[in-house]
Amino acid sequence: YPSNPKMGDGSILERTNCRAKGGAPGFKVAILGAAGGIGQPLAMLMKMNPLVSVLHLYDVVNAPGVTADISHMDTGAVVRGFLGQSQLEGALTGMDLVIIPAGIPRKPGMTRDDLFKINAGIVRTLCEGIAKCCPNAIVNLISNPVNSTVPIAAEVFKKAGTYDPKKLLGVTSLDVVRANTFVAEVLGLDPREVEVPVVGGHAGVTILPLLSQVKPPCSFTQEETEYLTKRIQDGGTEVVEAKKGAGSATLSMAYAAVKFADACLKGLRGDASVVACAFVASQVTELPFFASKVRLGRTGAEEVYQLGPLNEYERIGLEKAKKELAESIQKGISFIRN
Ligand code: NAI
Repeated sequence: YPSNPKMGDGSILERTNCRAKGGAPGFKVAILGAAGGIGQPLAMLMKMNPLVSVLHLYDVVNAPGVTADISHMDTGAVVRGFLGQSQLEGALTGMDLVIIPAGIPRKPGMTRDDLFKINAGIVRTLCEGIAKCCPNAIVNLISNPVNSTVPIAAEVFKKAGTYDPKKLLGVTSLDVVRANTFVAEVLGLDPREVEVPVVGGHAGVTILPLLSQVKPPCSFTQEETEYLTKRIQDGGTEVVEAKKGAGSATLSMAYAAVKFADACLKGLRGDASVVACAFVASQVTELPFFASKVRLGRTGAEEVYQLGPLNEYERIGLEKAKKELAESIQKGISFIRN
């Protein structure tokens, strides 16, 4: 036995074909940044997902340890680890879905935009790899600032000639997960029964919960609306402050990322009516990217839904969101073009 049979190319004693035949048809999924605060629980939860047949874990540190650990779970997916830039190609080749939680998280007092300097370059490098090795994969981009990293990824793919707007999705599902939880708390309902559309983007005022469209139908006082909107917009900061410098949301994020990735895989499988919120190329507003409900299908985000009727409070929020979003999107585009 080699010291770590699961590292690199998935060499010996790995009857991948047998397992694939035995189990349900599965998808190949890579996680880039798999050894991080989000990456580790995300890897664990994806290993538990019956739609995944192969799981590639890539990071610039600690990928072998996380891979050895996760690979002992007695679930269907075959796990392989990849360490460092020289193994990025191996990590990406043949993947159906690539999830990216690589990059530094916020510390107290930081905005998501403060992460731009470092994370923009990381996302660029990883997306160049995707363009080269798995240009048809669906990409779930978690790295912040999402409002800028999604435009960066789009520009990288355009340059490479591989851009398919349906396949690039900024992950905003944590905003929805938080909104469902906080709204359920106020209404005294089980959060599993609550659905709150959250549109716009993924930072501060660009996070726009549409409380007038909550399911099951309900109404809120002005005070409740203001409290909920603010708490949903500041949910990330609430966690950053509670962790006192030890990072940002990781566990709830991994949960939300898996919820979203699972929706993408169900779409790829051909399930009907798979709908989730995501930050995508959009014609819903005058901005080139916007988060709203999308229908996920075999080719990615096959339909981007309109916002629906907004109340006065939401219309004002939308104007504020668009102003900040426009700047963040432009910053991402300029990073690649200039
Ligand atoms: P972390 O620092 O715990 O983990 C990041 C991982 O990325 C580390 O293991 C690091 O080695 C790896 N990494 C760094 N450079 C890399 C490269 N070039 N290639 C591959 N991997 C690389 O951070 P955490 O808490 O996991 O957060 C990751 C990102 O997710 C941050 O940018 C954070 O702001 C963002 N985030 C996004 C959320 C969303 O709702 N979209 C919510 C929470 C966090």
